[in-house]
Amino acid sequence: MWQRVVPLLALATLSQALDWDAAYAKANAALTKLTQDEKLAIVTGVGWTKGPCVGNTGSVNSIGYPSLCLQDGPLGIRFVEKVTAFPAGVNAASTWDVDLIHERGVALGAESKALGINVHLGPVAGALGKIPFGGRNWEGFSPDPYFAGIAMAETIKGMQESGVQACAKHFLLNEQEKNRETMDTSVDDRTLHELYLWPFADAVHAGVATVMCSYNKFKTFWACESEELLNHTLKGELGFRGTVISDWNAQHSTALSANTGLDMTMPGTDFNNPPGSVYWGVKLGQAITTGEVPQSRLDDMVRRNLAGWYGLGQDKNYPPVTWNSFNNTGGGPNVQGDHKRIARTIARDSIVLLKNINNTLPLIKPKSLAIVGQDAIVNPAGANACADRGCNIGHLAMGWGSGTAQFPYLIAPLDAIRPQAIADNTTLATSTSDDPDAGANAARDTEFALVFITSDSGEGYITVEGNQGDRLTLDPWHDCNDLVEAVAAVNKKTIVVVNSVGPIILETILAQPNVLAIVWAGIAGQESGNALVDVLYGGTSPSGKLPYTIARRAADYGTTILPGTDTFDEGLFVDYRHFDKAAIEPRYEFGFGLSYSKFTYSTLILDLDTTPGPAPGPTGPGGPLSLFSSIGHISATITNTGRVAAAEVAQLYITLPASTSAGEGDIPVRQLRGFAKISLAPGESGVVSFVLRRRDVSYWEATSMEWVVPRGVFGVVVGASSRDLRLEGRFSVDA
Ligand code: NOJ
Repeated sequence: MWQRVVPLLALATLSQALDWDAAYAKANAALTKLTQDEKLAIVTGVGWTKGPCVGNTGSVNSIGYPSLCLQDGPLGIRFVEKVTAFPAGVNAASTWDVDLIHERGVALGAESKALGINVHLGPVAGALGKIPFGGRNWEGFSPDPYFAGIAMAETIKGMQESGVQACAKHFLLNEQEKNRETMDTSVDDRTLHELYLWPFADAVHAGVATVMCSYNKFKTFWACESEELLNHTLKGELGFRGTVISDWNAQHSTALSANTGLDMTMPGTDFNNPPGSVYWGVKLGQAITTGEVPQSRLDDMVRRNLAGWYGLGQDKNYPPVTWNSFNNTGGGPNVQGDHKRIARTIARDSIVLLKNINNTLPLIKPKSLAIVGQDAIVNPAGANACADRGCNIGHLAMGWGSGTAQFPYLIAPLDAIRPQAIADNTTLATSTSDDPDAGANAARDTEFALVFITSDSGEGYITVEGNQGDRLTLDPWHDCNDLVEAVAAVNKKTIVVVNSVGPIILETILAQPNVLAIVWAGIAGQESGNALVDVLYGGTSPSGKLPYTIARRAADYGTTILPGTDTFDEGLFVDYRHFDKAAIEPRYEFGFGLSYSKFTYSTLILDLDTTPGPAPGPTGPGGPLSLFSSIGHISATITNTGRVAAAEVAQLYITLPASTSAGEGDIPVRQLRGFAKISLAPGESGVVSFVLRRRDVSYWEATSMEWVVPRGVFGVVVGASSRDLRLEGRFSVDA
């Protein structure tokens, strides 16, 4: 158990990108050349719809500073044609593939830059997703903070490598759409650090240039004017040197927001542009004259804004904006490059196979196939027929709201299955509505039936079928349990494909003995249908795993949408941490996913420095820098014992010592602290190696307000999911 091994993989997150010192040097030099009005212009938006982008600032000719262009969003560029509609964040997560997540970031950033966008409004780790009903969870990655943190860091590094400033949002505790603009939140300090702040620490460590503060209140103060959140935690504790941008219309004051750490107001007015709604610009100038806001604060804001711009090299040959979000005539260059390849790869590798009785899948030249459900085809009115994708008609490949993009095209399942069926000589029967009788008629005489069902959600400014952003239930939409029942009653080989923004309750479907397979395809973007065919027909073995838990009953999650106040009483126990603690059997646990192959796990090796010594030390981007240093590696050997080439996601979970010194409450049974995806040919073995950072074995000690590596025995498991534990070990920290 205590053998030594040479580290095989270096976790990319150990490094960071933006050179803040160099960027600040340039920003300081430029600052001396600016007039007060120019400084005010840099930090103030020009007003909603008053520029080509969803957010635009004033410009300063003397230093070549443009009207900065800020544009959504997390899965593709909003309001522009000829861009790539990538799989959503939650699908990027279900690949569990750090390289693909990174590549997606690079591609998103490249499209942004080519369009002249300076600040790309993503990625998302708030909502973290503690409430499965939360409307915007799919924009982000996973309710596990470690996972969300890795995905944030890789996306940010990818985007910024392409030259665009990333924007980590929404800071903080904006977990639901209902009353998001009035909600008052509070949370205990340990939960704040170990869950909600955690992925933002990774974002800052990765060098993120901007952070967007959220709509809600935190301990009675607006998040965009919270001394505790912005000045103290983000800029102080995490050492964030970039720009804090308000969510659109989330600013509520002139002086307080300035003094508590806001650095840019967006869009500069409220959405109706009444003159009284401008808090900065001239008003900020007056507040400086009266002494309510120190001049040094304005200079600091400007410095931060300029540092991001210089730091990403946007002062040199940056492409212009040649399109307009609000008058979209298809202008702007085609920026897609070959990104459909990465969109398809992510979509394919994000598919999670939940059930596959008798090796029903892959399909091998079936004689006949019924395709059932409106989700199988593109909305007959067009993939982009509903503004900001605010309807659930036809194939579901993204949620709705500001986190959407125009589909350049959308390959729905039937579009991709049809040519495959022709090649295989398969007879197709179709029923492309959600009507159970029509579905049963189509499926009665076919060898297999594929039933497509959905669940959708989005941002609260659009209500779809009664869902005001957040989901009303976790059941399939359009009564599709009935559709599945009707089809499964007449077809002995029924396969259900789920396109959903998050977990749905599958019990009714699982109760149908003729449902032999369930394929979880998430919201997969423009290449959705092609990716599905890659997996259904065995071109690629499914390799996605769930980045959240699928429960047996919605109530099992223990969190729900609340009316006006959320005190986060569930503490650390969200998603699998809650199921483990409360001993609730999930239907499909966090990290679960089947393959067409099989894997064995062997040879757990721990190579750790178990005397990490005393505490944290100097702060850099992301918090005390020692937290991000490696304390060693844990590795395991994975062998593909099946018959086909396939990839496996191995997961590392850690259990903290039973007595964390402060003794403040329960410790999660286990917490994800590493994952690695490995592709293996049949019979092949490979080693996965997980880097443990100091923070991965620390907890937040609320009395001393510090990260502490507790003394005692740590449990280690490497498994195929959070409950399929294959290898167990321990190590102890004594000093
Ligand atoms: C509000 C959303 O919360 C935010 O995510 C988005 O970037 C802005 N609107 C701009 O569209």
